[in-house]
Order: sequence, then structure tokens, then C-alpha cells
Amino acid sequence: MAAANRVLITGASGLLGKSLVKTFTGNGWQVVAHYFSKKGRDHRLSEWISGDLSTLEKTRDFINTHFDRIKDCRVLINNYGPMIYKDTGAVSSEDLISGFQQNLISANEITSSMIRSGRVHSVVNIGFEGAGEVKPYRTILPYAIAKSGLQLLTLSYGREFTGTRFYFVSPPSLEGGDYRKPSGDVVNPREIAAKIYGMVGNTEDV
Ligand SMILES: NC(=O)c1ccc[n+]([C@@H]2O[C@H](COP(=O)([O-])OP(=O)(O)OC[C@H]3O[C@@H](n4cnc5c(N)ncnc54)[C@H](OP(=O)(O)O)[C@@H]3O)[C@@H](O)[C@H]2O)c1
Repeated sequence: MAAANRVLITGASGLLGKSLVKTFTGNGWQVVAHYFSKKGRDHRLSEWISGDLSTLEKTRDFINTHFDRIKDCRVLINNYGPMIYKDTGAVSSEDLISGFQQNLISANEITSSMIRSGRVHSVVNIGFEGAGEVKPYRTILPYAIAKSGLQLLTLSYGREFTGTRFYFVSPPSLEGGDYRKPSGDVVNPREIAAKIYGMVGNTEDV
């Protein structure tokens, strides 16, 4: 398979991740699929690589361990990004660090290692419906801060690294997910996966 058709998807064993794997493999892409504890089904077009992205050291271990498999990916989808719930009054500095690590630092580490390898054409970072909104948060403050930071990172990298395209996709609540915004849309993860594929899947571009 030509290197041009390889995509790395983090959190590929999760709700949106599974739809992304299905969509890209369904279109003939070779998917390097990251998981933590639930390895997906092997497929001729998907290879599963495990890793813990919850600390900087473990994220670097993940990159070093699998670099040979990820370095030729032309598309990176930083999909891993857990929502962390805690009442704002109880949020500690550790919670903020953890939110940043899991939603922003892990994506930054993987992105910068792939930019250094010189092959990545497109990077997709995943936000959430409220990313970038300046307003008070009751239960998801570390997540919201980190996703807004990820949005700024995406914009700034897009300006700095002009040879790579950067996208920031902010889905509403996903059907089948744990969290549902009190008001607002709920979408099927397949729709978001199709939208992302539509942005980066044109092999003439890559
Ligand atoms: N769900 C929503 O309603 C919603 C709405 C808007 C935006 N988003 C965003 O969309 C993206 C995907 O969300 P999702 O709901 O599809 O995720 P999800 O189903 O919760 O998936 C979680 C993923 O993270 C992996 N994981 C868990 N602990 C890990 C660790 N310590 N290190 C590395 N990986 C770990 C899981 O691996 P294993 O399963 O293998 O353990 C799984 O692949 C996220 O960026 C999220 O913020 C979600």
C-alpha cells in the first residue's frame, strides 16, 4: 500500500474512533489505529497499536515504540480526548494538568513528531461543541479549557507549518456517548467520520 494512503487515528477503539476506522478502511485507506485497552478487530487495512496517552512520558514512549509505523502516515487524526467531569468548585490543579495532557499535550507530541518526519499532509484535531466559547463551565472546566487551547494550537500551527493542513472539528454530542448537552444537537458518529473523511480523504491532495 502506498504511504500516501496511511492515516493514524488515536482513540480508534472509541465511539468516534470506530466510525473513523470504518470510514477510512471502507475507502481503501491503511489505518494505523491506536487503542488503550480494547484492541479493535484486525482487518487487512487496519493495524492496531496500543499506548497510554495519559502522561507526557507515556505518550513519548508510545511515539518511540511505534514510530516506524506512524512516521509514514500522511494524515493524523488526534481523536483521543476524554471528557473529564468535575464540579468547577472541586477542580484541582492536577485536574487541569490532566485535562491538558489528555486533550492537548498528547496531540501536540504526536503532531510535532510527525511534522518532524516530514510526511504528514493533514492533521485533524477534535474539539467539542463549546470549544472556543468564553463562558463559565459548571462540570467540564479542564476539558473545555484544554479543547479551547487545542483550537488555538491548531490555528497557530496552521499558520506556522504551511506545508501541512490543520483542521479543527467540533462535533456536537455523539449518539451513544455518555455526555449529552442539555440543549443542542446529537449526531451519529458516522456523520462526523464522513465529514472528516471529506476534508482529508482526497488522495489527489495527499
Ligand atoms: N462523545 C461525545 O459526545 C463527544 C462530543 C464532542 C466531541 N467529542 C470528542 O470526540 C473525540 C472522541 O470521543 P469519543 O466519545 O468517541 O471517545 P470515547 O468513546 O470515550 O473513546 C475513548 C478512547 O480513548 C482511549 N483511551 C482511554 N484511556 C486511554 C489512555 N489512558 N491512553 C490512551 N487512550 C486511552 C480508549 O481506548 P480503549 O477503549 O482501547 O481503552 C478509546 O479509544 C474526543 O476528542 C472527544 O473529546 C466527543
